[in-house]
Amino acid sequence: MNPSVHPRSLFERSRQVTPGGVHSPVRSFRGIGRPPVFFAKARGASLIDVDGNRYIDFCQSFGPLILGHRDPDVEMEVLRAVGDVWSLGAADPYSLELAEWIAERVRPVQSIRFVTSGTEAVMSALRLARGFTGRRKIVKFDGCYHGHVDSMLVRAGSGLAEEGAASSSAGVTGNQVADTIVLPLGDGEALERLFESCGKDIAAVIIEPLPANFGLLPLEKSFLEKLRSVTCENGSLLIFDEVISGFRVALGGMAELVGIEPDLVTYGKIIGGGFPVGALGGSRKVMEHLAPSGPVYQAGTLSANPVSMRAGLATLEKASLAGRYERLNGRSKTFADQLRALIKRYSLDISVVQVSSLLWFFPGSSQTVPGLPYRFPSDLEDRFRPLFLALLNEGIYTAPSGYEVLFLSHAHTETVLQEALEKFACAFERLAAGEFG
Ligand SMILES: Cc1ncc(COP(=O)(O)O)c(C=O)c1O
Repeated sequence: MNPSVHPRSLFERSRQVTPGGVHSPVRSFRGIGRPPVFFAKARGASLIDVDGNRYIDFCQSFGPLILGHRDPDVEMEVLRAVGDVWSLGAADPYSLELAEWIAERVRPVQSIRFVTSGTEAVMSALRLARGFTGRRKIVKFDGCYHGHVDSMLVRAGSGLAEEGAASSSAGVTGNQVADTIVLPLGDGEALERLFESCGKDIAAVIIEPLPANFGLLPLEKSFLEKLRSVTCENGSLLIFDEVISGFRVALGGMAELVGIEPDLVTYGKIIGGGFPVGALGGSRKVMEHLAPSGPVYQAGTLSANPVSMRAGLATLEKASLAGRYERLNGRSKTFADQLRALIKRYSLDISVVQVSSLLWFFPGSSQTVPGLPYRFPSDLEDRFRPLFLALLNEGIYTAPSGYEVLFLSHAHTETVLQEALEKFACAFERLAAGEFG
């Protein structure tokens, strides 16, 4: 199929056959007030739309592509994989290799189960925590996103923040949310009070150890340590949701950076190298409660898909070569500093938050970047829109929501970032002149 045959009508056609014209809400450009760009091709840091325009991509499929689009080594492995087998529904050596690779290198993971998305990983981890502890309640934090598991849609961040649905999604019943307790992010006292009142009912606490779905909201290490100690004392499990941060901030994710060992970790994105994947891992003692070893049922037709497994392993092997994390993180920091200097030059009311290869534009001065518990301006999307449009106009693509982070990859070389900076400068100049709203 050649998608460029009717480029103008693609969104109209899409709306006829797909809710809102897209297959995941944030893709719709709803907060932007114009139809989405339809992309046809990608390579490295570049996206090409159906009209042949090139953009430097800072969305990178929301995180899986730490090497950039179609990294040549990963591509070669994918082509080999497709030549061998597409799907098995049976035991295979590829998932074994990836499982062993991770278990040998990532401390909290002795045993791992591959699934097909981050959402599925979280759903299974929550069931496993309940099955392991025999308890019902799950604690989550306001402003963390854990996929679209029913019970996790209570004040979830990300696409939901953009939709303005502060409390939960329609279709999530009272029963489904009754066993989910939501606490303010970073509030150690609220955490202690909760555990004093009902700690023995709590199966697990789940958290993004680097919250990156509702802006970028780095946490104090001491808060994560408190989580670890309070869950240990009460026999509850601690689940780190590292679907974004896993294999991104460091090989061992945030667990490695903060030196805390959670009981369970959920992964996705990078471990599939851009192909559908998710995973939950942890100690053998907990993981052996999953079927067929234990009583907690979990299954999947396409689980551990061989193409995803081989793309994932090729990605991880390359991303973890000596000095690579340091290089990517260092380049991202320099880029953030250069952006800040440009913002200052044009006297714009924008702040840049950067952790590792994640960046977030906060539409406000650095004094107003949300602390914890965070408080966002109610017009955040309105203030983000001109920035997004100005960047798009120069050929810079970011996720179309002010709550989403930017992702850098190894394909964002110094040359690419220099070119990007020139485009940012043009966009900022036009923003400062009052264009784009
Ligand atoms: C921290 C976190 N958990 C879970 C998910 C859900 O993963 P998926 O979109 O693969 O279902 C996401 C998705 O962005 C995520 O960022």
